[in-house]
Amino acid sequence: MDYKKLIELAEAARENAYAPYSSFRVGAALLCRSGNVFTGCNVENLSFGATICAERCAVTKAVSEGERDFLAIAIYAGEKFTSPCGICLQTLCEFAPDIDIILPDGEAEYRIYKLCELMPINSIPIK
Ligand code: THU
Repeated sequence: MDYKKLIELAEAARENAYAPYSSFRVGAALLCRSGNVFTGCNVENLSFGATICAERCAVTKAVSEGERDFLAIAIYAGEKFTSPCGICLQTLCEFAPDIDIILPDGEAEYRIYKLCELMPINSIPIK
């Protein structure tokens, strides 16, 4: 699947974002090696700490459906250029330390980052 399409799926997933506390709505689309795509959105909570980011929502959906082999994840937060938070990077690292992280960019359509560019010092889990 091409990465532009993956961004479109992340944009569509953002429609379901539940973000009454921050008003910052995020969607994600996670591409598995199988070709399946799992989407996610942020789901906030009054406690703040229980908030789930769009990326972890997508990863959790995928793993709970038996998928662990991830190629790429696109993240869409409207006009704002948004990169995954530290917790989401570590969660992605658990399953896919080499994953492509696709971030939409006004000028170049999108930029592709490797996880290690966004989290240079990480803990690679033992498999
Ligand atoms: N958020 C995400 O879902 N993904 C990101 O990459 C950045 C932050 C969410 C968490 C919270 O609901 C809101 O955006 C503000 O931080």
